[in-house]
Amino acid sequence: MSLDGVSLIFGGKDTEPVLAVDSINIEIPQGQFVAIVGPSGCGKTTILNMLSGLIPPTVGSVKRHGEEVTEPSRDIGYMLARSALSPWRTARKNVELGLQFHGVGRNERRNRAEELLELLHLEGFANAFPSQLSQGMRQRVAIARTLAIDPDLWLMDEPFGALDAQTRLVVQAEFISLWEKSKESTVLFVTHDLEEAVLLADRVLVMTARPGRIKSDNVIDLPRPRIIDELRFDEQFKAAEHKIWKELRSEII
Ligand SMILES: Nc1ncnc2c1ncn2[C@@H]1O[C@H](COP(=O)(O)OP(=O)(O)O)[C@@H](O)[C@H]1O
Ligand SMILES: [Mg+2]
Repeated sequence: MSLDGVSLIFGGKDTEPVLAVDSINIEIPQGQFVAIVGPSGCGKTTILNMLSGLIPPTVGSVKRHGEEVTEPSRDIGYMLARSALSPWRTARKNVELGLQFHGVGRNERRNRAEELLELLHLEGFANAFPSQLSQGMRQRVAIARTLAIDPDLWLMDEPFGALDAQTRLVVQAEFISLWEKSKESTVLFVTHDLEEAVLLADRVLVMTARPGRIKSDNVIDLPRPRIIDELRFDEQFKAAEHKIWKELRSEII
């Protein structure tokens, strides 16, 4: 996947044009876990939207598997901080939703959804409605729903941002161990939490304040599988986080 000389300008006709992102060049090999950090409003969501094919860049090109991205594709999983579950569907029916779009038959859908809920430790909650689940459980249902379509690319926009610190740790650990099982899918993970970025990613991109540019590209050379609740206290981890923090800090403060 690549962004080549990508800039994006919002508005222009009736409103003042806004240069949201400026001259972005990124190349991401398949199977890499990349985190993007940067101050609020620097264009992180805009980058995900361009990668997903939801909005075209004003200048430059966005490519996946060597081809220009021109429209949303079904092998992309997109997850947000408050991924909306359908309130009138049970957890299982929510997970089945993506499979339904793919034309998977009823029984297979059901089995697959139950398997995924089990994988995310939600067995026993298949028939619960979102309102009966905690925030953390809802977010795990959203992960299961995204997993169901077996995405080749995960675009995650502060996916765990709405969770309390402890729940977040549990959901992060579940997500990273699922991904580490195959490491086949590419992940683009936007977060305002630098610790989260360094704990999870192979590589952390730091963006400047708007107009967003790539300020630095940092390889996170920590072994996998990562036991994130322990890794947080590791000296090598702390040094990596501190180094990146110094760059991020000047964009935020
Ligand atoms: N549809 C839009 N129209 C005009 N400006 C927008 C639009 N979407 C985003 N912007 C502006 O572009 C900049 C980048 O937005 P965004 O990608 O959402 O930032 P981030 O996700 O890093 O917080 C922001 O300054 C925002 O106000
Ligand atoms: Mg955003």
